[in-house]
Amino acid sequence: MEKQEIKHFETQELRTFGRRHGKKLSTRKTWLMENLLPKISPIYSEISQNSAILEIGFGNGEHLRDLAIHNQNMIIVGAEPFANGVAALLSAITNESDNLVKPEYKNIRIYPDDVRLLLHSKDFENAAFLEIWVLHPDPWPKARHEKRRLLNHDFLNLLSEHLTDDGKIIIGTDHWEYYDWIVEQLNQTNLEIKSTKLDIIKTRYQIKNKAGTTEPKYLILSNKIS
Ligand SMILES: C[S@@+](CC[C@H](N)C(=O)[O-])C[C@H]1O[C@@H](n2cnc3c(N)ncnc32)[C@H](O)[C@@H]1O
Repeated sequence: MEKQEIKHFETQELRTFGRRHGKKLSTRKTWLMENLLPKISPIYSEISQNSAILEIGFGNGEHLRDLAIHNQNMIIVGAEPFANGVAALLSAITNESDNLVKPEYKNIRIYPDDVRLLLHSKDFENAAFLEIWVLHPDPWPKARHEKRRLLNHDFLNLLSEHLTDDGKIIIGTDHWEYYDWIVEQLNQTNLEIKSTKLDIIKTRYQIKNKAGTTEPKYLILSNKIS
């Protein structure tokens, strides 16, 4: 798909992601982006009638696929503005022979853009998720880029409004400075830390281990009961 063919609604907020496009997509992936993607958009009625999980910034979607397989009776929504990541996921969830979605991935819905647009939209203002996953959010390590960090207190408050009563936010990062920064942000939210223990999840980014730390750290958050 050529860059100029993709239309995006821009948020008023600062961009929290790097690129929207990488190398040119194959013919099959271009077909899937144009023909399958519009058919598996998230729909509010489906989310309100079922239990739902949201993964933000799913990259190539390895963890999202795991969520889909292990939670067959739930709707799994993924948001990711990087077109090549979305295309990689579409390719992985479909048969090469007929481009149909494999049965175990029929519960996946994809929003190919900034998740803040979805959560702020009129249609989704009442959407509530049992789990919201954010694995390896872009750390924006330079001080002048700090404002681009996704997990600031405003965004955490937005997520907190989209949790079911027993809902959890699960965050993982190998950037320990960002981790501490997120913990500080929690002071300005209604969220509290329920746990920091989770088996290491081997996403593509984790395997690359760009930050060079020995292991990722996790935060499992829920709304404080008032
Ligand atoms: C460092 S990558 C990690 C990808 C994947 N979670 C993994 O662990 O391999 C961060 C991802 O978050 C996505 N991202 C950043 N800001 C986002 C936003 N506002 N909404 C949705 N995704 C976002 C980026 O496009 C990128 O793919």
